Amino acid sequence: RALSEKERLFLLLNYAKEHFSLNLATEEGKSIGLSYFRERGFNQQIIEKFDLGYSMDSWDHLANAAQTAGFTPEELTKAGLILARENQPGSFYDRFRGRVMFTIHNVGGKPIAFGARTLKKDKNQPKYINSPETAVYHKSDSLYGIYQAKKAIKAKDNCFLVEGYTDVLSLHIAGIENVVASSGTSLTENQIQLIKRFTDHVTVLYDGDAAGIKASLRGIDMLLEGGLTVKAVVFPEGEDPDSFSQKVGADAFGEYLKSHAQDFIKFKISLTQEEDRTDPIKKAETVRQIVQSIAKIPDPILRNFYIKETSRSMELEEELILMELNKIILKAQ
Ligand code: UTP
Ligand code: MN
Ligand code: MN
Ligand code: MN
Ligand code: MN
Repeated sequence: RALSEKERLFLLLNYAKEHFSLNLATEEGKSIGLSYFRERGFNQQIIEKFDLGYSMDSWDHLANAAQTAGFTPEELTKAGLILARENQPGSFYDRFRGRVMFTIHNVGGKPIAFGARTLKKDKNQPKYINSPETAVYHKSDSLYGIYQAKKAIKAKDNCFLVEGYTDVLSLHIAGIENVVASSGTSLTENQIQLIKRFTDHVTVLYDGDAAGIKASLRGIDMLLEGGLTVKAVVFPEGEDPDSFSQKVGADAFGEYLKSHAQDFIKFKISLTQEEDRTDPIKKAETVRQIVQSIAKIPDPILRNFYIKETSRSMELEEELILMELNKIILKAQ
């Protein structure tokens, strides 16, 4: 029986994964790709678990190998692996060249796309190049690491959510396997549904910079709306989960997560300046920010608990918070 177009696509993506893995064993791959992974603390075990690889610094290394193996340029194009040269019909070049490769798997473990990190310090190059949307890869439906994490997410009944590929890898190295990455874009409804197959509890671990905080706030409201409970951990300025865990080590990192995980109310309060907490106008603004998030929670019982918590933390009558909440809910209707 002939394979369907989609089956061929999966076959080709698996071929490409193997190709990038095998490249790590070449002279170029060893001296550039493998040594890069080693420097970042990514050992052989993690390389194999996540199908890390290397794309040769060549215009057509993958294109040639895959065509010799029987794949057509049309299939390679549809897989997002090669691009057509402008004004040169029938001429193609590899999308990923001279980069370390991160294989993106679907929840069943099949390779569906790649992320590729540059090794050059050159700021004119994008740090990561990713596969385009294809028949089997929809960025907004996937989460990096979900295949390797799903068992642990279920067992721990919690999912850590990070921004980047390397954050996922470093958490695994630190012994934390219930982690997925949103890959630098804001969380989507489908990604939340994917998490909900395994747990209703998420802990957001975004980068310790302004962009990370902003993304956390957006992500938190999306997760609350999806009916999940949410905690957040803030990292020191300039650190992300990867850099911080590699810096302090697995044990201290695990302790940090335990002692710094706060629910979204404490997280939002912690974002307001110390001196603002006594200023009535600033305090009212913080309460409104918190109530905006509470309004997104579908479960009225859970909502009630958070109202009580806000009342305690902000030293404010519950009735006032309820009034504010009702105002927001009415406005949304
Ligand atoms: P970061 O800039 O935080 O990178 O982007 P990182 O994950 O910490 O990577 P390292 O440690 O510098 O190697 C977070 C995520 O956003 C996506 C990637 O998925 C990345 O892991 N991203 C970032 C891109 O897709 N393209 C980019 O150019 C940058
Ligand atoms: Mn539960
Ligand atoms: Mn960042
Ligand atoms: Mn980062
Ligand atoms: Mn990083």
